Amino acid sequence: MKITAKKLKEYKLQNKKISLLTAYDYSTAKIFDEAGLDGILIGDSLGQVILGYNSTVKVSMNEMKIFTSAVARGVKNALVIADMPFLSYQANISDAVLNAGELIKCGADAVKIEGGSKYIAETVKRLTESGIPVMAHLGFTPQFINTIGGHVVSGKNLDTTLEILKQAQELENAGAFALVLEMVPTESAEYISQNLSIPTIGIGAGSKCDGQILVSDDVLGKFKDFCPKFARKYANLAQVLEDSAKNYIEDVRNGSFPNENESFRLKDEEKEKLENYKNN
Ligand code: KIV
Repeated sequence: MKITAKKLKEYKLQNKKISLLTAYDYSTAKIFDEAGLDGILIGDSLGQVILGYNSTVKVSMNEMKIFTSAVARGVKNALVIADMPFLSYQANISDAVLNAGELIKCGADAVKIEGGSKYIAETVKRLTESGIPVMAHLGFTPQFINTIGGHVVSGKNLDTTLEILKQAQELENAGAFALVLEMVPTESAEYISQNLSIPTIGIGAGSKCDGQILVSDDVLGKFKDFCPKFARKYANLAQVLEDSAKNYIEDVRNGSFPNENESFRLKDEEKEKLENYKNN
């Protein structure tokens, strides 16, 4: 059954925890969808884990469109959410609506935008009124890395927790259907979650959020450059990939690949013709 943005809000009322992961390609998205995830985010984290950039700010709309289309083609049931990349929504609201619309045309069911200023709330309102569901994102917001100055935990005291809650409530009032809370202490995230009617989706925000999201390359143990403390590794794909490549190299070098079953053969009649040709 197709999960909608509205359904995630119902899950909060039913106390049903929401599970999301990022994905960036067709085959992974298909496997994740069949596994039963509620939502799949084409995160701009693809800048680091897929494209090798050193931050998310380098990701372009064109790149997001390519990966969003690929993921959407693999998904039947999960809610497909596309991240709006840096500067695709900050400059003005018309740009935001047009760029979000492009991602919806690529197959996304909703978009995610970072930040909590008054201006962002206005953008959320306009996108929602245009028929585009918006997931908001507060706490640590990677697109602000150059102003924040590093990966820092937000909401570490009462004042900053209340500030995040205020922004979250503004975003909820503007129409956001869910809120990602990144790198926020458990107690602060719990208080924020209790005071919103939309679900909070935590990443490094403890167990009291209404749902959880992680970057799939961290979960699968594929991205070797850096793994945040809050990510749980469910597999070691980096090792699987390395071992597979090493075994393949060895098999090619020692001639054991390809074998008979992995090859095509001429029919006897054609083989004979070829032999005669070679001998004349
Ligand atoms: O880009 C991303 O992957 C995100 C996270 C919330 C996982 O924004």
